[in-house]
Amino acid sequence: TTIKEFQTSLLGWYDENHRDLPWRHDQDPYHIWVSEIMLQQTQVNTVIPYYERFMRLFPSVEKLAQAPEEQLLKAWEGLGYYSRVRNMQRAAQQLLQDYDGKWPQTKTGLQELVGIGPYTAGAIASIAFNQPEPAVDGNAFRVFSQLLEIEADITKPQTRGIFETVIRKIISKDRPGDFNQAIMDLGASFMTAKNSDNAHSPVRQFNQAYLDGRLDEFPVRSKR
Ligand code: ADE
Repeated sequence: TTIKEFQTSLLGWYDENHRDLPWRHDQDPYHIWVSEIMLQQTQVNTVIPYYERFMRLFPSVEKLAQAPEEQLLKAWEGLGYYSRVRNMQRAAQQLLQDYDGKWPQTKTGLQELVGIGPYTAGAIASIAFNQPEPAVDGNAFRVFSQLLEIEADITKPQTRGIFETVIRKIISKDRPGDFNQAIMDLGASFMTAKNSDNAHSPVRQFNQAYLDGRLDEFPVRSKR
């Protein structure tokens, strides 16, 4: 099927070309979580040294839960949006107090933790726990709106659900975490705002907007 062919092209490309990033060395949910929170408002290259230092300072959920606030905020200096790290500490405390230190392994379970919304929950569920869950961020909006010419307005809150429904049908059940991360890498390298290099994209033959010469129309954003 087309879906299987798409998965094979995407994952084959990811196997050969994925970026070697420090949070891709294992499937520890703590590592995935910290990286995904940092990556929410900050670019990969900026995040790398922060991530490495954070893991030296706070190598576990326990250490994060116990960290003095002053040390925590200092480790975050330069990343901004300090509520992200304050919420992470509260979630670490919640995990230890209410969950006996054991991570919920489902997307909905993960969303019970402070500061973990649908994107982060999908990323942790798929990457750490191999659940076939979408992780819809700006990359996923860009990639899937182009591939399938999805006309839904991505500035509307309901649109996330439309993309999640579509992605659930396409995501690899064998390698959901790699699938989601391949979409992130694809979004970063080929399907950027400028659409500079689509001719070399591993999924160009599946990219309907590319085939139709309509790349500039996706994703659809009403507000500007
Ligand atoms: N952006 C958000 N999450 C990411 C990840 N896991 N790898 C690369 N870029 C990302």
